[in-house]
Amino acid sequence: MSEQKSGANKMWGGRFTTAPAEIMKKINPSIGFDYRLYRQDIAASKVHARMLARQGIIGEADNEAIQAGLDQILKEIEESRFTFSVDLEDIHMNVEARLKEIVGEPAGRLHTARSRNDQAVTDVRLWMRDAIDGLDAVVQELQRALIERAGEHVETLMPGFTHMQVAQPVTFGHHLMAYVEMFGRDRQRLAGARERTNICPLGAAALAGTAFPIDRHFTAEQLGFSAPTENSMDSVASRDHIVELLFCCSMLAVHLSRIAEEITLWCSDGFRFIALSDAFTTGSSIMPQKRNPDAAELVRGKTGRVVGSLNALLMTVKGLPMTFMKDMQEDKEPMFDALETVQLCVEATTGMIRDLTVRPDQMRSFLERGFPTATDLADWLVREGGIPFRDAHHITAKVVARAEAKGCTLSALDIESMRDVDPRITEKVYSVLAPEHSVNSRRSYGGTSPEVVREAIARANARWL
Ligand code: ARG
Repeated sequence: MSEQKSGANKMWGGRFTTAPAEIMKKINPSIGFDYRLYRQDIAASKVHARMLARQGIIGEADNEAIQAGLDQILKEIEESRFTFSVDLEDIHMNVEARLKEIVGEPAGRLHTARSRNDQAVTDVRLWMRDAIDGLDAVVQELQRALIERAGEHVETLMPGFTHMQVAQPVTFGHHLMAYVEMFGRDRQRLAGARERTNICPLGAAALAGTAFPIDRHFTAEQLGFSAPTENSMDSVASRDHIVELLFCCSMLAVHLSRIAEEITLWCSDGFRFIALSDAFTTGSSIMPQKRNPDAAELVRGKTGRVVGSLNALLMTVKGLPMTFMKDMQEDKEPMFDALETVQLCVEATTGMIRDLTVRPDQMRSFLERGFPTATDLADWLVREGGIPFRDAHHITAKVVARAEAKGCTLSALDIESMRDVDPRITEKVYSVLAPEHSVNSRRSYGGTSPEVVREAIARANARWL
């Protein structure tokens, strides 16, 4: 019975007599998503064929036919002239089947000394390397936007919060620079993940290596990998490099969700610290007064999807015995989705940071209400009166209560009321009660004073941009 008649797979259907069930055609293929690996698949095949020829495993004429055929396929795909077939399951078999149509017999020699197991993981590692580089570049751009906006606002006072209560005055620039640090660590994590990703599994074959005299170091080097993988079984069975990348994406997405939440809050009527332009807001179909920060909300919301991808892959890999199991085909969709989603979120956040207008007057009005310089008063009592901090804290709380009762700020509270709480307080105390003074005085390394933040910005420029 010919393969055509039986409907069995042309690639591996030698001992199959009947076609797969209809439902198999739905559950089995990965071409619907792994077509994205075409460039990597072709690049890896070209190097593999060159290595085979170099080692005398295939002839030079076969290699040349394979190289030309693969180049043609790449062109066909890029010009959208290639028909992907679900019957051919995945990108690897789609490319190979087309190669057979184009070059004939030599195509059958390409799969010598490799398997789809090592081929698939090689393609994915190549894809991840580029994806990491692309993601790193957009996160760097976000850092650039944050650093630039921070530079404009090293003297713009705003309340710093703890427990969502006004805590101490900071500057908007200092606040933005906090995110530069978070995104910097995200980039460092990505760089670490890249190192562990950038090793070459090709040549591990199905799981045990191969009896052909291949040169895995040549293959690795030609594909820009730092080395071949050490163990053939680990090569085809491991997915922790993808899990790690999905964690990097999840952590990044969680950081993005925090700044997105702040943008949403700052735009809200209760705060009005910033405004987003028409370009980054949407209106309501029923409430004409609305200007909704949809992009920020979506960045916050999409975080769930990215973390979901991490969970999905962790659960897929959990409990899998050695070595390749078809379960592992499930590694790709969460990876593609997480990378695409997080990159979109980074770019939207950069757009909002560049777009937003700051309202210093609104930030200031919060500082008039929350007694944010109470710590400065306590510190003054320690410094000028030699009072232990715990006692100074107690005295300050009473002074705050007086101001609260009078409905005024600490700066506006009369000296008699203060001295009534503790006679050691003198007129000199007023010099520390203004928010400006509070911010200017916080000159410790990493602190919020404009001069220290300017230095931090200079270091961040050198380090991240
Ligand atoms: N399509 C598969 C994947 O995405 C390729 C490897 C399949 N190997 C196999 N023996 N069925 O992982």
